[in-house]
Amino acid sequence: MPRDMTRIKRDRYQRIHEQLELELQKTPDLTARMATMVALLHHKQTHFFWTGFYRLQPDGSLLVGPYQGSLACQVLAPGAGVCGAAQREGETLVVPDVDQFPGHIACDSRSRSEVVVPYRSPDGAQQGVLDVDASRPAAFDEVDAEWLERVVALLF
Ligand code: SME
Repeated sequence: MPRDMTRIKRDRYQRIHEQLELELQKTPDLTARMATMVALLHHKQTHFFWTGFYRLQPDGSLLVGPYQGSLACQVLAPGAGVCGAAQREGETLVVPDVDQFPGHIACDSRSRSEVVVPYRSPDGAQQGVLDVDASRPAAFDEVDAEWLERVVALLF
């Protein structure tokens, strides 16, 4: 990605993060916080095609939470897809080409690349993932990974 595009993207993340720090003072409710986060990210980062949370369930499946974008798969089987892999490994996954990721789940065939960021409660327990899709290949890089990790750290 050209350097000025990376700078624009980083500057946007910085502003989103600052705005979230203010917005999230208004309620401790987790659903409201997730919805606020997703709305800001989705509408301020132009490369975001689908933006949402999947919440870890006791049986290991991931259940969709607040999201913006087209209709999503509601339940992801334990370990399934990019989301399941990121959840299992407990680490952010950047997938430049979803067709090259074995087991990728295509909720919307227009999705071409994806980044998935696990989030944890303050006691360190994994709670689920933030999933962002783009309709062009290789839309995400280490700048997205770094900033989305900072954003989900604001959840609790
Ligand atoms: N593509 C994801 C599934 C969720 S949708 O993209 C909204 C995956 O492979 O885990």
